[in-house]
Formats: sequence, structure tokens, C-alpha cells
Amino acid sequence: MADKIADLSGDEREKRVAELKAKMQASAKKAKAAAPEGATPPTQTQPVAATAADAPKKPAAAVVELPAKGSSNGAPANGAAAAAAMAAALPVASPAPVFQEDSPEVKARKEMNRREFLTYAWGGALGLATLQAGVGLFFFMMPRFKAGEFGGVFFIGPESAMPATSASPEPNTDGKFWLVNTEEGGPKAIYMVCTHLGCLYKWEQANNRFECPCHGSKFTREGYYIEGPAPRSLDTFVVTIENGEVAVDTGKKELGAPAAESPAKIVPA
Ligand code: FES
Repeated sequence: MADKIADLSGDEREKRVAELKAKMQASAKKAKAAAPEGATPPTQTQPVAATAADAPKKPAAAVVELPAKGSSNGAPANGAAAAAAMAAALPVASPAPVFQEDSPEVKARKEMNRREFLTYAWGGALGLATLQAGVGLFFFMMPRFKAGEFGGVFFIGPESAMPATSASPEPNTDGKFWLVNTEEGGPKAIYMVCTHLGCLYKWEQANNRFECPCHGSKFTREGYYIEGPAPRSLDTFVVTIENGEVAVDTGKKELGAPAAESPAKIVPA
């Protein structure tokens, strides 16, 4: 019964103890009334169970010894003392753990941390995906040309094999350039397209110059603007010497200087 009482909640346990106390007080009164007057009851200690029904099964902790009237220590046996002794013998239940709910501030802080984490995670994933797409697009769009095709590098031959500086320009139709050898700058690769509106100009040997059939722009053998509606001198490709060989990179074009800056420009009188 002690274990059962211990399992009870506070109010129920107090109620149960009060019942036991009342029973024991009633038992004590009965015993006192049944004893012959003047007789001295035998001195004994008797186990008192929490309840009569539970007595045979009770563990030692549930049994309280009550001194009878006239006992060796002389203390009166009464129900109040027995109840107090029994209450003291009852195991005290440890308080159950209390669940404490987070305050609104703590909840808000936890929620904010979770949101921040998700925001950063999504931002990082999105940035990474964008970077990958950008790199892939760059390599997809980047032109790739083989040597010997327009947009790539053309190897003309040894530097010593270049035409004379007085020779006529040599056309390279695959590379779309005129190759000339100049005294001031060495070999030049002049783009075959007119700088005015894109016509293909021609070399006029009789006049020793380039002339555009579309609108009459004219250029020197070295590609400098002479006259006409063209806004600048002829464009050229980058020429380099690689291992003694002249190389023309048709993927790297240099725009001609403005017509007004051309040293060959004819100034109207
Ligand atoms: Fe050459 Fe107009 S396109 S002058």
C-alpha cells in the first residue's frame, strides 16, 4: 500500500493518509474499551499494515510498529502518533520533471536561425548553379578555329621568304587578307574588307593602290587611307614571328587609324 500511496498525487495521497489515520484511531479506541479495567495489557509490538487487506503482502517499509499503552518506553499509544510515524515512513516521491516551454523570444530566435540557414543555403546553391551555367555558356560560345582556317592562325613561311618591300600585295583568300612587306613595319596582313560599308576592294596595279569599286575609297599599298567615304585606314591582322616563321592570326583584328590621321590622306586644295 505504501507504494500505492506513493504513486498517488498530492491531494489523493493526503486523503488516503487521513483515512488510514482515522482507522487506526478507531482501532485504538476499540482495544482500549475491550481491555478489563486495571489489567495491564501485555507489552508487545504489533505490525500495523497500511490496510488490513494488504497486510500479508506489505514490504518492510510499509509496516510501522506502534507502541501499545504501557509500553516499555512509557509513551502513550494514540492514533495521531501512529499516523505521524506512518507518514514519516512513507517514501517521498521525487518531483516529476517539469517541461518548460520556450519563451516567445527564444522561439523567435530559433525560428530566425532556421530561416537564415535556409536563406544562405538556397543563395549558395543558386549562386553555384549560376556560376556553372555561366562557365558552360562561356566555353560553348567561345569560338574555336583550327590553324589555316579563317579565324585561326595562318603560317606564311620563313621571315626571309617574305616578298620584297617593293613587291605587289599577295592575296590570301582563305585568310581574307593581303600580305605586304613594308620597310617601316615588316610584313602586314591587311583585311580584304573595305572600312566603309564592307565591299571587297581590289589592288590596282596601274595606280599602285587599293581601290574600292563600291564608293571609290582608295588606300595605299600599306593600307593607309587616301580618299573617299571610308572613315579609317584598312584593318589589319596581328602578325608575329614564331620560330622564324611568319604567323598571321586572323582572330585578332586591329582597326585602322581614323582617316583624318592617315599620313597618305589627300587634303582637298
Ligand atoms: Fe568601300 Fe564604300 S564600301 S567605299
